[in-house]
Amino acid sequence: MKAFIVYCHPSEDSFTSHVRDAFIKGLEDSGNEYIISDLYKMDFKTDMTEEEYLREGFYRDTPIVAGDVLAEQEKINSSDAIVFIYPVFWTEAPAKLVGWFDRVWTYGFAYGTKTMKMLEKGLVLCVAGKAAEGLEEFGQLDSMKTVMLGDRLFNRVKQAEFFVIDGTSRKIELRNTRWDQNLKTAYEKGKTLFVPNEETEKPVRIEACGTQEIETERLLLRQFNLDDVDSAFRNWAGVEEIQDSYGEPVYETPEKTEKLLRKYIIGYLSGYKYRWAVIEKESGECIGQIAFYHVETQNCWGEIEYCIGKAFQGKGYATEATKAVIDYGFKKIGFHKVQISCRPGNIQSKRVIEKCGFEYEGTLRDFFYRNGKYEGRMYFSLLADSNK
Ligand SMILES: Cc1cc2nc3c(=O)[nH]c(=O)nc-3n(C[C@H](O)[C@H](O)[C@H](O)COP(=O)(O)O)c2cc1C
Repeated sequence: MKAFIVYCHPSEDSFTSHVRDAFIKGLEDSGNEYIISDLYKMDFKTDMTEEEYLREGFYRDTPIVAGDVLAEQEKINSSDAIVFIYPVFWTEAPAKLVGWFDRVWTYGFAYGTKTMKMLEKGLVLCVAGKAAEGLEEFGQLDSMKTVMLGDRLFNRVKQAEFFVIDGTSRKIELRNTRWDQNLKTAYEKGKTLFVPNEETEKPVRIEACGTQEIETERLLLRQFNLDDVDSAFRNWAGVEEIQDSYGEPVYETPEKTEKLLRKYIIGYLSGYKYRWAVIEKESGECIGQIAFYHVETQNCWGEIEYCIGKAFQGKGYATEATKAVIDYGFKKIGFHKVQISCRPGNIQSKRVIEKCGFEYEGTLRDFFYRNGKYEGRMYFSLLADSNK
């Protein structure tokens, strides 16, 4: 197998250059080959000409793309995987690599009627000065991941991975203490680039259709966005009674709720994440959430969890949302079975479960320890055949 490495660092006197060498060694030791574009060394031109902008911005396939761009595109289409190795500069790739995407991801190659090959693997190996906690504090890590996997590599590789080697700033001790370990990791990444990932290689028997919008009489079920933070916090995420009812922690501030929603939003990059914001059409409020929080891709079933804010309970919203999601589970995702569970003392949930037509399967005894005593977990399910 052949990997195309897009390498981008201005200096050989850098840790990133060692990461590149360790990665290549691993790749070679596993019997694979590679080609490389060292963007600074080859002085890859990163500024778009006006002519290039007019071609891309107006979705034209003329004029023919420049020779240096064509050469990069040919390297991609002659490879089985693409690997990006670069240092983080201002929470992004160096401008040179950003410019590489501007020019190489052209209309008619990477978008429009694509001629870019669907690659087996895309790996982003970036080297960050900050330690992981610093990268997570304001969502920088998520934003870098979203741009690389959710946009640049999206639908262009069968399997994508974003891996950060963190804490490599010359100012921090970690750079030296983790030096060998980090290079070993880079070596392993090279060695295992083409080793099938057990998770993704499992036979999958459901559709990766993700969280698509569902409209019911009074509700809109859609993906979360950051405009939901305030109402999600107010109605459920920040409310102890609601969160406790389905075993979730309380998010005490809008900032903590935002972090939770960002996690959900990043999750949408996978087509196997099915989690909806429950929006009351009349008010536009995010009154709750509903999800297949546990999905078995191979065994073909999903388990529902949901919550509805206190002020919106008793109106049949939970039943309306659950029925819609059951339908989506069978008809869109292709589940064989949809299950749901609740504590014996949760009368409201039991009522919803009954109204949705679930069949009782059994109770796992003393499953939860709450408020000083044990409680069981009741399981209910529907099979695809019974939902026809
Ligand atoms: C202009 C510039 C901007 C940088 N911005 C960030 C940043 O936003 N986040 C970060 O974690 N590190 C940042 N760094 C640190 C680099 O990622 C640094 O190059 C990294 O520690 C890799 O080490 P190396 O340059 O020896 O390969 C920046 C470095 C430079 C030169």
